[in-house]
Amino acid sequence: MTRKIKIFDTTLRDGEQSPGASMNTQEKLVVTRQLLRLGVDVIEAGFPISSPGDFKSVQQIAEVVGDKAVVCGLTRAVEKDIDVCADALKNCPRPRIHTGIGVSPEHLKYKFRGMTLDEAIERGVHAVKHARTYVEDVEFYAEDAGRAPFEDLARMIEAVIAAGATVVNIPDTTGYNMPWYFGERIKYLCDHVKGIENVTISVHCHNDLGMATALAMEGVRNGATQVECTINGLGERAGNTAMEEVVMAIAMHEAELDAHTDINSSEFLQASRLVSSITGFPVQPNKAIVGANAFAHSSGIHQDGVIKERSTYEIIDPSSVGAAGSSIVLTARSGHAALRMRLEQLGYQIEDGEEFEKVHKAFLELADRKKEVMDEDLHSLMGERAREESALYTLKSTQISCGQPLTPTATVTLVDPFGNERTACDYGTGPVDALCKAIDKVVQADCDLTEFSVQSVTRGIDALGEVTIRITAADGQVYSGRGSECDITVSSAKAYLNALNRMLQKQV
Ligand code: KIV
Ligand code: ZN
Repeated sequence: MTRKIKIFDTTLRDGEQSPGASMNTQEKLVVTRQLLRLGVDVIEAGFPISSPGDFKSVQQIAEVVGDKAVVCGLTRAVEKDIDVCADALKNCPRPRIHTGIGVSPEHLKYKFRGMTLDEAIERGVHAVKHARTYVEDVEFYAEDAGRAPFEDLARMIEAVIAAGATVVNIPDTTGYNMPWYFGERIKYLCDHVKGIENVTISVHCHNDLGMATALAMEGVRNGATQVECTINGLGERAGNTAMEEVVMAIAMHEAELDAHTDINSSEFLQASRLVSSITGFPVQPNKAIVGANAFAHSSGIHQDGVIKERSTYEIIDPSSVGAAGSSIVLTARSGHAALRMRLEQLGYQIEDGEEFEKVHKAFLELADRKKEVMDEDLHSLMGERAREESALYTLKSTQISCGQPLTPTATVTLVDPFGNERTACDYGTGPVDALCKAIDKVVQADCDLTEFSVQSVTRGIDALGEVTIRITAADGQVYSGRGSECDITVSSAKAYLNALNRMLQKQV
């Protein structure tokens, strides 16, 4: 039997830290259920002290997970953080507190204003001991371990193991390392740290040089038995190690690495679509494992090879990552049972009764406009419903006049948080500009629209057009919004309003 590599998912914590990727509690629970279907070993549910919303999410995620995985909460090496985290996890059957402090010269000098290494070690040791008063399972992260001198890092790790850490996380926080150098770092710890053989070594790598997966693999090759990762590689700045990449790489090289994971890889495509739809972060078509082109062959030579034998140009069987497609075709004639089954397979649980009827009605409206409703359409439809449910302002109607040589003019009617209908009109450089200006007149929020993109959800002229918008608030925070409709001007209005709603909800 090869070594088991535990998969620690941090989509809901580090992933959610990507500017504009914030998720509300309901969205996090949908992602949690998908993580359970994947069979991850640990779910990092959030940073409980950071906000009451995060605290509540961690509690509810722990409830949904039960004993199916370890649920972990992040803290700084600060007693109050640890107390709040322990409180959020108090009913969790398998709780873990993740605490830590910086170790690199850069972090000690600037972030901790000249703290010495000894002082940082003392803070780390104290935090681990404090966390151990609440839970048995304590993970310690030595932040920016990737830029710390090997001996400094070894001293800190040895001290926290002696204090009771059960998992030691060696993050390349800034994605600075070359893979072989990161591997040497892990090997050095294995060879020099007393007690390291009794704990789990975890790696947490960022993608600033596009090497997060390679770094994690070198970590595994040199002794790590836990990898921290996210769906689609979401995460701070350039992101984290992508779970789908690291799991498939381990599966492909199991013998050479003496390693395996227990992940159900056939759920990857589903997980990727779900997270993309919820966060509003599109997946690039050439993304490894889950991109739309990951198993598409376009040149004649390649097509000829694949037709003769798939393995000529494919190292992964598409069905092993869930890319085989669904056998159920959903149309306007599909009944409740087929819709419910497909939605459940996609990760959505909807109570019978009024709630399900509303979804079914929205599905029929869409099916009337499209011949076939694909999985991507269902993700969009469910995303649209979730956005509407939590909205402060909702879109009632839009009317646009545009065309050469007219001045684009838009009229919108919104329903405000008190249930009143409010109408405004304005003109702009194009129909979307006019719509956004008319919405601004009603909402009166202080922000700039900084990004706009439109993508067709599926192929064909009848496809839904999904618009993603990012806005920057006056305090510099970025919020993203999504909207999907067959008419892309309506998608645009919905996406803009969704971003404004997210901003207003964070500000109240
Ligand atoms: O990148 C990092 O160092 C982190 C830690 C909090 C684990 O995210
Ligand atoms: Zn990180």
